[in-house]
Amino acid sequence: FIPIITVDGPSGSGKGTICRLLSQQLGWHLLDSGALYRLTAVAARHHGIPMTDEESLKVVAAHLDVQFLAGTAAEIKIVLEGEEVTDAIRTEAIGADASIVAAMPSVRQALLQRQRDFAALPGLIADGRDMGTVVFPEARLKVYLDASAEERASRRYKQLISKGLSASLEDILLDIQARDERDMNRSISPLKPAPDAVILDTTQLTIEEVLEVVLDEAKH
Ligand code: CDP
Repeated sequence: FIPIITVDGPSGSGKGTICRLLSQQLGWHLLDSGALYRLTAVAARHHGIPMTDEESLKVVAAHLDVQFLAGTAAEIKIVLEGEEVTDAIRTEAIGADASIVAAMPSVRQALLQRQRDFAALPGLIADGRDMGTVVFPEARLKVYLDASAEERASRRYKQLISKGLSASLEDILLDIQARDERDMNRSISPLKPAPDAVILDTTQLTIEEVLEVVLDEAKH
């Protein structure tokens, strides 16, 4: 039996940070499922495949040549076809492409087993949109993190500014709303809480407060 905690929610809800901290504190493996959709988009771009060509995108997803290497400071280094893409997959443009390929049923199917293969002892923290509903419906704890679109846009904005990047709060809010719209209304695996998920609105909560609630739930 491999214990699994799933953490789902929209863009900017704090999933990424919470999952990294949970995995560090518990010493469990981490699945960043969004990275697989981002990697599919990056690999497709490398091979000149348009984001409309579902048939070819499915093949790209099924044959992703990717390694997740443990790097320094608990950062995971991502290598795609021999090239480091850790930062390259995090751009807003790739995020937008990722949400387009993620709406394709055959792409999701192609990535399903790869995601399940991350489950290993002593346990797994699974970060995504459909971790509790589709990929790991048997998980012992399912968390759904939410926050207002304005708060999520402001978090992303601060993140970019702190990295010395220029950003527009209005553009980020529009991008988040477009991504929410696509993620929640697609016909396959739409973003929604599992019926047995613990739903947390993090708009007014700090990272530490969210972490405490989840760790507390994990003890039950
Ligand atoms: O960090 P952010 O929420 O911006 O993006 P991400 O978690 O890296 O995911 C990028 C995109 O992949 C999302 O907008 C979703 O459309 C898609 N995705 C998905 O459909 N299913 C998942 N399990 C994870 C991500």
